[in-house]
Amino acid sequence: MRQLIAGNWKMHMLRAPAVELARGVREGAQGVACDLLVCPPFTAIEPVASALAGSGVAVGGQDCHAKGQGAHTGDVAAVMLRDAGATWVIIGHSERRQNHGETDELVREKVLAAVDAGLTPIVCVGETEDQRAAGQETEVVGWQISGSLPKPFSGVVAYEPVWAIGTGRTATGQDVAIMHAFVRDELVRQFGEAGHDIRILYGGSMRPANAGSLLAVPHVGGGLIGGASLKAEDFLAIARAAKPA
Ligand code: 13P
Repeated sequence: MRQLIAGNWKMHMLRAPAVELARGVREGAQGVACDLLVCPPFTAIEPVASALAGSGVAVGGQDCHAKGQGAHTGDVAAVMLRDAGATWVIIGHSERRQNHGETDELVREKVLAAVDAGLTPIVCVGETEDQRAAGQETEVVGWQISGSLPKPFSGVVAYEPVWAIGTGRTATGQDVAIMHAFVRDELVRQFGEAGHDIRILYGGSMRPANAGSLLAVPHVGGGLIGGASLKAEDFLAIARAAKPA
């Protein structure tokens, strides 16, 4: 399976620079050996999707509500993302879990809503620094997987150790190898044969200089990139480091 290089633009980019960034990605996207996805903030989804139409670079949201519509001020439904041109959505990012109190159960409901609306979900899991210091990283991630993924699950999992996000501290190749092998085993335990085909992305300070070694680790099915996805040049350099299928 091709690796997936996904950019999570978080709360960055007004519409004009977002379109400029999307055009830069589009120009360099030809011939890369991976699938490409960008996830702009809600307000930039539509213009970015228009700028990327026909390019093969997909567009996603960064969150959605668990319900299809209703009295939920400030929330955005999965079907609205779809309507704006998104085909993917990130769900359960640690910044949502921490800043908005999202639980595994809510994440699972959002995943169901996303799939219902025709979106492919990327479900994020990962331990905090304290949990790792206490030796609980596999236990925590195992619980997040069983609580956050509905059965059956058609989507992608992103392992993002919270302590590596936006810190410049990347997990070592060995940490990543251990955790991705663990996530793979859990997916196979919980989903049987189908668990072998679920892509597992690594996220957390991935950048051009470390992408090649991280993307070469067994069971790493791509990357979820924050900071380095905000420059087309860096994002594309990571994409060029992807392992051919
Ligand atoms: P950074 O690449 O900025 O560490 O962010 C990773 C991330 O949270 C992607 O979802």
